[in-house]
Amino acid sequence: MPAANIPTDPHSVRDFVLWAEQRFQQARLYFGHGTDNARDEAAWLVASTLAIPFAELDARAEYRLTPAEAASIRSRVEARITTRKPLAYLLQEAWFAGLKFYVDERVIVPRSLIGDFLPERFQPWVRPAQVHRLLDLCTGSGCIAIAAALAFPAAQVEAADISSEALAVARINVEAHGLDARVTLIQSDLFSELQGRRYDLILTNPPYVEARDMASLPTEYRHEPELALASGPSGLDAIIRILAVAADHLNPHGLLIAEVGNSCLPLQQRFPQVRFVWLTAASGDESVFLLGREELTRHAARFRAAADSLADPSR
Ligand SMILES: C[S@@+](CC[C@H](N)C(=O)[O-])C[C@H]1O[C@@H](n2cnc3c(N)ncnc32)[C@H](O)[C@@H]1O
Repeated sequence: MPAANIPTDPHSVRDFVLWAEQRFQQARLYFGHGTDNARDEAAWLVASTLAIPFAELDARAEYRLTPAEAASIRSRVEARITTRKPLAYLLQEAWFAGLKFYVDERVIVPRSLIGDFLPERFQPWVRPAQVHRLLDLCTGSGCIAIAAALAFPAAQVEAADISSEALAVARINVEAHGLDARVTLIQSDLFSELQGRRYDLILTNPPYVEARDMASLPTEYRHEPELALASGPSGLDAIIRILAVAADHLNPHGLLIAEVGNSCLPLQQRFPQVRFVWLTAASGDESVFLLGREELTRHAARFRAAADSLADPSR
């Protein structure tokens, strides 16, 4: 939508987007839960509140809002500013890999970079015809499991999370996408309830925020479950526990693909001998790695020793 003078008394769709954008900028909100700037956040709020598809917002720019519609937008703008809740929670919707998901504060707002690679199905690393059993570990809202089930239509997908609250949200999304027959939800502390199960592909976006970063996160993150973000002093606890047993849950050609955010450097420093393959996202970000079963097996003793030292820091 082209820029124009900021309206003090908004009436049209265009007015409200510009007005909300200015209010967000003045309030110095943090963006990063679905959008990365005030204009997109304002456009999303207006489009969702008016039930206008995002792509049609420009075409409807001159539409004049009813008093009830205007009041609803004003109240959501004020709620976003005063509570600092991510907009996704206020709207109870999030977009991931081009798909719509229900979200509330029981799950983090979907934004995993794994979504960037799902449309291309991780090629050339993954052979889609070989993916019959897929695990999404730490599933949260179920967004990765569901997008993966749609990207790999022949695969049976299991989606595990330790949080029964997160799984209740994932259940809503699995049903909304009509995938009950292909996506199974399992409550599990990482692999604890997955004994004996093997997969062709394991995807995971585990918690990976280090303790120091947790203390300085913008207020928006404090509305998200701490369980979904915090992962010990270095941020590496969950991924180390995953690396220690992932090989036991992969078929011979199987792959583990994991997002580790800012913990990518500490992870490489912790395991300099391991040949992590870092995937480059559309933004240039390289915080999603891939490891095959062979490489995981080669370093299994190293990973297990690291996992044991989490349980017993004196080792
Ligand atoms: C970063 S969120 C990812 C959620 C979702 N996959 C996404 O990308 O939006 C991490 C998830 O891991 C779950 N989790 C934390 N510790 C876990 C554990 N020990 N076992 C299984 N799931 C765990 C949290 O409940 C949370 O839903």
